[in-house]
Amino acid sequence: MLTKHTLLKAVQSAAAVLQEYFNKQFTISNKEGINNLVTEVDHKSEAVIIDVIRQDFPDHYILTEESGELVQDSSYKWIIDPIDGTINYANGIPICCVSIAVEHNGKMIMGAVYNPFMNELFFAQRGFGATLNDKKIHVSTKDNLYTSCLVTGFPYTYLDQPNGPLQVFEKLVRKGIPVRRLGSAALDLCWVATGRFDGFYEHKLAAWDSAAGFLIVEEAGGKVTDLDGTYYNPYQPGIIATNGLIHTHLQNVVNGADL
Ligand code: IPD
Ligand code: CA
Ligand code: CA
Repeated sequence: MLTKHTLLKAVQSAAAVLQEYFNKQFTISNKEGINNLVTEVDHKSEAVIIDVIRQDFPDHYILTEESGELVQDSSYKWIIDPIDGTINYANGIPICCVSIAVEHNGKMIMGAVYNPFMNELFFAQRGFGATLNDKKIHVSTKDNLYTSCLVTGFPYTYLDQPNGPLQVFEKLVRKGIPVRRLGSAALDLCWVATGRFDGFYEHKLAAWDSAAGFLIVEEAGGKVTDLDGTYYNPYQPGIIATNGLIHTHLQNVVNGADL
């Protein structure tokens, strides 16, 4: 399918940019706050992605993290995170990726997440399953939250609201449940899709962080919802993504239930 070809070309071209500059010198600037960074490489990666899409689909709508919305009257929308895990990237930590999703008439139809440093390309097309380097992947089969391996992320602000990220994290960790923090929401989701993690939750993401990973988890047999358990909408902040089996339990804990 033409869109798949373009999508894969876009993530691969952008990933080549990430590899070219990794551990080299590049400029780093702040967005809001001192730790929300954007690098020269984010901008270069995004430019390459937009170029690839525009060559094949000049009239598609594009939503990007760094350039905002390139509005077009189109039923197709490309949702782009040119580097997910920028802080990792800026520190030479090879847990980062390029994430691109394609939405059609408001439904995610295709997504690709590529971490070139681990040579891992995750891909999903609605109705056709999810793959890692062309091999089918599936979520885990663990059905007990107490023995699950979880992952989360923390926003730079708004940490202290009731049942906020720190309180939920504390509750889980105090029960001895391992909760990892990779620093890339797109990879967190893909690692749920492969069964490395049984569940992921985060309180405040943007559509470009989650759009591709959301479809990849669903197509790997998992469940993805807002924090309140409704079908996931990437244009609101909260997310819970699991193998389906621990979903309700994790959702209750995220919403204030004791463990
Ligand atoms: C960030 C990562 C991180 C998540 C942050 C995101 P960025 O994206 O996905 O895991 O916790 O909320 O902003 O800034 O590296 O593209
Ligand atoms: Ca991101
Ligand atoms: Ca980013």
